[in-house]
Amino acid sequence: MKTYVDKDTCIACGACGATAPDVFDYDDEGLAFNKIDDNANTAEIPDVLHDDVRDAAEGCPTDSIKVEE
Ligand code: F3S
Repeated sequence: MKTYVDKDTCIACGACGATAPDVFDYDDEGLAFNKIDDNANTAEIPDVLHDDVRDAAEGCPTDSIKVEE
């Protein structure tokens, strides 16, 4: 699995970092990013974190979390 946040549509709601704190963090503007690979969408997310990423993606109100299974 790989994931990144589309910062063009993220509204800084703050949900994803609460749902998947080991994957998502926020920049100075409150916009989320994948902190594992600095939002490059290159790193394989560890298996143990997959459910958290899926939950975060489902919970994002703007569908800004992109997931590649
Ligand atoms: Fe942004 Fe969605 Fe997270 S709006 S802060 S990517 S839950």
